[in-house]
Amino acid sequence: MSGIPGAIDATLEMLIAPSFTRIGFDVRRAMYRWQPLDSYDLSGRVVVVTGATSGLGRAAAEQLARDGATVVTVGRDAARTEAAAAAVRAATGNPEVSAVIADVGDLAQVRAASAEIIESHDRLDVLIHNAGLLDRTRSESSSGIESTIASQVVGPFLMTHLLLDRLAEGAPGRVITVSSGGMYTAELTTDHLELSPDDYDGTRQYALAKRAQVTLNELWAERVDRRSVVFQAMHPGWADTR
Ligand SMILES: NC(=O)c1ccc[n+]([C@@H]2O[C@H](COP(=O)([O-])OP(=O)(O)OC[C@H]3O[C@@H](n4cnc5c(N)ncnc54)[C@H](OP(=O)(O)O)[C@@H]3O)[C@@H](O)[C@H]2O)c1
Repeated sequence: MSGIPGAIDATLEMLIAPSFTRIGFDVRRAMYRWQPLDSYDLSGRVVVVTGATSGLGRAAAEQLARDGATVVTVGRDAARTEAAAAAVRAATGNPEVSAVIADVGDLAQVRAASAEIIESHDRLDVLIHNAGLLDRTRSESSSGIESTIASQVVGPFLMTHLLLDRLAEGAPGRVITVSSGGMYTAELTTDHLELSPDDYDGTRQYALAKRAQVTLNELWAERVDRRSVVFQAMHPGWADTR
C-alpha cells in the first residue's frame, strides 16, 4: 500500500477503533473499490474452512457457497459441524458443502482430516485457518501442548504442511490465516510461547498465538514460491460473535 490510500489505511490502523469497527471496513471497501462478494464466480474451486460452525467461519462458508465454491467445513463436534454444513446447503442451494470432523488442536485428527480432504477432492484452491478462541482456563491437547497454541498454531501449521502439495497443484493455491489485532499486545517469543499453569492468562496466551500465526505466515510466504501458493494473514475486525 502506498500513496494517499496507504496513509489513510495506516492512520486508521494506528487509531485501532476506527480500523477495527465498521468504519474501517466501509472506508477500505470504498477506497480500494472492493468487488461485491456476491459478484464472484467460484464454481469449480474447492475451499476448506476450519471453525465454520458459527461466527466468521460460518459466514465465510455461506458466502463462498453462495459464490458457487465447493466448501469443506472442518469442525471438532460432528453434530454441530454437520448441522452447520446442512444449514449452509439449505441457505445457498449449493449441494457441494461437506463436513470433515477434526479438532484442529489434535494432531492425529488433523492428519486424518487432511488425508480425508485429499482423498475426497482432486483439487484444493484455498485453505482458511479460521478456527480459534480465547480460553480463560488453561487446558492441554492430547499431545500435551497448551490448547490455544495447539489449535491456532501447531495444528494449522501441520494442516498447511499436509495440504501444501494439493494446494500447489492448482497453482496458485492460497492459505488464509484469520489472526487478530489482539496480537499487537504481544511480542513473538519462541521460548515462552505456551504459558504455564502458574502464569496462564487467556488474553495473553491468545495474543501470543495470534502473533505466532502472523510470523509463521510470513515464513511460509518467504519459503514457498508465490506462483505456487500465496499466504495471507488477516484481522477480521471486531465482530459480535461467541
Ligand atoms: N470476532 C472477532 O471480533 C474477532 C476478532 C479478531 C479475530 N477473530 C478470530 O476470528 C476467528 C473466528 O472467530 P469468531 O469470532 O467467528 O468466533 P466463534 O463464533 O466462536 O467461532 C469460532 C469457531 O472456531 C471453532 N473452533 C474453536 N476451537 C476449535 C478447535 N480446536 N477445533 C476445531 N474448531 C474449533 C468453533 O467451533 P465449536 O463450535 O466447536 O466451538 C467455531 O466454529 C478466530 O480465529 C478468532 O480468533 C475474531
